[in-house]
Amino acid sequence: MGRKYSKTEIVREIKHPEIEHIFVFPSKEEAARATAERIAEIINQKPNSSIVFATGETMIPVYSYLATSVDQDGVDFSKTTGFHLDEYFPCAPSEEHSFVKYLRKWVWGPLGITRFYEINGLAQNPRAEAARYNRLLKDHPVELAILGIGPWSPETNTGGHIGFNERGTPFTAETHLAKLDKATISRDRDERGQNTPDMAITLGIANILSAKNIFLVAYGRNKGKSLRESLLKHIHPLRPASALRLQGRKVSIFIDREAASQLSL
Ligand code: GLP
Repeated sequence: MGRKYSKTEIVREIKHPEIEHIFVFPSKEEAARATAERIAEIINQKPNSSIVFATGETMIPVYSYLATSVDQDGVDFSKTTGFHLDEYFPCAPSEEHSFVKYLRKWVWGPLGITRFYEINGLAQNPRAEAARYNRLLKDHPVELAILGIGPWSPETNTGGHIGFNERGTPFTAETHLAKLDKATISRDRDERGQNTPDMAITLGIANILSAKNIFLVAYGRNKGKSLRESLLKHIHPLRPASALRLQGRKVSIFIDREAASQLSL
């Protein structure tokens, strides 16, 4: 209770039998800032790290705080190597929802990352593209994977993806072409008004679990429901994020109070 974590105050830490840390912060901003502080610590300790960057709205404040640390505190990403977590398919970098576009805007430039590998969302053969990306990951053992979590859909009673690993994805899957779940398509098209495709290339759960450290960030009640399903029910491929519990000692979860309200353990 009330212990200091870097500069940002934690409201409390939720205990979980498998997950190393579940840190709760008073607000989304503080959760994002604490995540950025912890990422900066890892980069300061291991400047040559390979990092997997999630995209999505959740990460925008995290990456914004990190960009400020680069500018003001001298955090140095120049020796790191950057990877995507996932990309829509087919998808050109010029499209509004493109994760390549997002990474160029929020990550590579602002953090000063010059060595990065992008998923080609226009590859003629998406399975070959997934295999190419998987080989790159094998050549660069990942120090840190930064994840969000997919929304929970009460209508379909599904959701909670990590990367674009939707329900039913085997935990042994590596980088692959994935079919998006209805919950994801509805979020993107109905709620966000995006013209997204039905498919994506995503790191598999096995790639994510092989990272040395895994950070997951989530805000709000809906994401709290996804976490609830993943952390409190049985570990099962129907709940993709439940796989994180298999490597729980590597996992830190950063959430706001609203997400935590769904997690009475
Ligand atoms: C997206 C991506 C992930 C992201 C997650 C949460 O669709 N597959 O990279 O972490 O879902 O996205 P958001 O933060 O926009 O809610």
